[in-house]
Amino acid sequence: MRAIVVREFGAKPETADMPIPEAGAGQVLIQLEAAGVNPFDQRIIDGFLNGRLPHDFPLIPGTDGAGTIAAVGAGVDDFTLGDRVVGKFLIPPIGHGTFAEYIAVPHDSALALVPDEVTSVRAAALPTAGITALDLMRAARVRDGQKMLIVGASGGVGSYLVQLGALAGAHVLATARPDDTDRMIRLGATEVVNYGPAIPASVADSVRTTDPGGIDVLFDLVSAPPVFADNAGLVRSGGAAFSTIGSADEAALRARGITGGNLESSGGAAELRELLRLAATGDLMVPISAMPPLSEAAEVLGAPGARGKTVLVI
Ligand SMILES: NC(=O)c1ccc[n+]([C@@H]2O[C@H](COP(=O)([O-])OP(=O)(O)OC[C@H]3O[C@@H](n4cnc5c(N)ncnc54)[C@H](OP(=O)(O)O)[C@@H]3O)[C@@H](O)[C@H]2O)c1
Repeated sequence: MRAIVVREFGAKPETADMPIPEAGAGQVLIQLEAAGVNPFDQRIIDGFLNGRLPHDFPLIPGTDGAGTIAAVGAGVDDFTLGDRVVGKFLIPPIGHGTFAEYIAVPHDSALALVPDEVTSVRAAALPTAGITALDLMRAARVRDGQKMLIVGASGGVGSYLVQLGALAGAHVLATARPDDTDRMIRLGATEVVNYGPAIPASVADSVRTTDPGGIDVLFDLVSAPPVFADNAGLVRSGGAAFSTIGSADEAALRARGITGGNLESSGGAAELRELLRLAATGDLMVPISAMPPLSEAAEVLGAPGARGKTVLVI
């Protein structure tokens, strides 16, 4: 099968011919049509999990994928041949990912049937970013009328968070570069906080000016610890602040009466089904900015400037 591989940590991804995996007992074989790209994929290539989980080389990257069940192993009765499915797969040994024509995965992994209303390309854009956004909303218990600031709102996780915040009735403040302002409003942001080289004020300074009473919830997807601390300073006592990149000082938050901290997404098939339901009803727009072919994976992996999701078409 055609696959994208890296031959050692840090190597450039290349196209290669790899054996088609087999569906063992308890597994399903998926013929992939689309694979969503996440920052995590490049971090795995760079060796982020080296020493923590076993890896196989040549390593096929890719966590998110959607396609059709092509074979079913012994003992599997919840999926049948031809079912359209989507999933989020980080299954050791790492290196048998979704940037390939086929993947074999346990039937009880984060795998869900795709409703007819949702194309495979859209489905593949949902798992990691969408589940993380849903996990954040649930961890913060966002309620109607609360002020919620998303820093890093233009990317994959942020483009779902803006929408889930609006669906929950929150007053959503979303960061965006000036040329991405209109898209944030269309996704459901109430206010857009611009950043970039032409904007001298920090995000925290801008919000202190526009919303001097502070905010209830901070979701910061991009800031290093000092900037996270500055942004968390906007949160009123009794509120919540989360980092997805480990930047929160949880003791400092508690000392100010703020819940939250560093979130590691733990959602699985149930959360994926919820996102698929929202996408099928049209309540959740799947924000895809680019759909390059699988062969162009090297160009999009780890690229900055995300505007929603990039999905590789296989
Ligand atoms: N802990 C977990 O379980 C978990 C789960 C999923 C993701 N993550 C992490 O969360 C982060 C976000 O994920 P993602 O998939 O949304 O990434 P993404 O799609 O790459 O989006 C990141 C967005 O942030 C913007 N950005 C960068 N610097 C910024 C700044 N200083 N202020 C405001 N916006 C800024 C980027 O746009 P520009 O480049 O144009 O500025 C981009 O649109 C990643 O680091 C990812 O690894 C963690």
